[in-house]
Amino acid sequence: MKDINILAIESSCDETSMAIVKNGREVVQLTVLTQMDVHAEFGGVVPEIASRMHAENITMVLEETLTKANMKMEDIDAVAVTYAPGLLGSLLVGVEFAKTLSYVYKKPLIAVNHIAGHIYANNLEKPMSFPLLALVVSGGHTDLIKMNGDYEFEHIGGTLDDAIGECYDKVARVIGLGYPGGPKVEKAALEGEHTYDLPIPMNDDSFNMSFSGLKSSIINLVHNEKQRGNEIRNNDLARSFQDIAVDQLARKTELAIKKYNIKNVIIAGGVSANKYLRSEIQKVADKYDADLCVPRMAYCTDNAAMIGAAAYPLYLKGEFADLSLNASSSDEVY
Ligand code: KG4
Ligand code: ZN
Repeated sequence: MKDINILAIESSCDETSMAIVKNGREVVQLTVLTQMDVHAEFGGVVPEIASRMHAENITMVLEETLTKANMKMEDIDAVAVTYAPGLLGSLLVGVEFAKTLSYVYKKPLIAVNHIAGHIYANNLEKPMSFPLLALVVSGGHTDLIKMNGDYEFEHIGGTLDDAIGECYDKVARVIGLGYPGGPKVEKAALEGEHTYDLPIPMNDDSFNMSFSGLKSSIINLVHNEKQRGNEIRNNDLARSFQDIAVDQLARKTELAIKKYNIKNVIIAGGVSANKYLRSEIQKVADKYDADLCVPRMAYCTDNAAMIGAAAYPLYLKGEFADLSLNASSSDEVY
């Protein structure tokens, strides 16, 4: 069978990224232009700045991607793009750019959900085996999703309020570690001890999770200690938070593995870069003789290679979008 090269575009948040992915599994080229330094000055992503920067840079990212791959648009079989969920203005830049490429070069257009992208990043490591349990942990999502086959997503549980990544970012902000918070809290936690007493969320048998109570208790704790003139032990607080947050993810993952007799587990989304989370989920998987797959670091956070991987099953099924494709800030994968 002829090789299928998909040009994939990701611009849902603050990374302008393009990739060429061969047959859904081989990354021929990946370009990621991050705006992180610009947003760090503001302590978080500023949507207006993000979309402007995508518009300024997207043509250059295409040029670099094709040049480094030593390919032309004529060598591309389809154009894939993240159409949801994410920041609307940012998504629109990628979607309009993809539609233009599709129209001008007469290539089929594939609309990819960002969370499907995070999940299919695992296919870049080894072919996913079904049924599987996906623990989705990103800045906007915390979900347990069961998959019985390609694109068969069954939502079995998840957060009722904040996402885990958002919580990491907030904790980083209140203890003054800056943006992006996740990796900074992880590093601080490595140096700390679990000495702060924080509430344990959702200690029940459901697949529900919650992070807002944990987040509020940390905000209140920092506020109260400051008012009393006490120093915050940042490393200890980061460690105490991370222990409780990851424990909740591990407990709920274990319940799902048990109930559905799962033998294949994957972790997906930006927070899957967290080494403590990886090791705790590995322990749970080992306990049930399940196989755990996690994307390599470069494919954990937002990137277009994962979009190319997720686009391939849609290409094979002939599920193409037309030029009426629109971006959506909130469409879910399940
Ligand atoms: O998937 P992602 O890149 O963007 C979304 O789709 O939301 O995830 C970004 C989130 C941020 O909240 C970031 O702080 C978090 O992932 N993150 C981490 C780590 N690396 C990124 N959280 C904890 N530990 C990390 N090492
Ligand atoms: Zn993401």
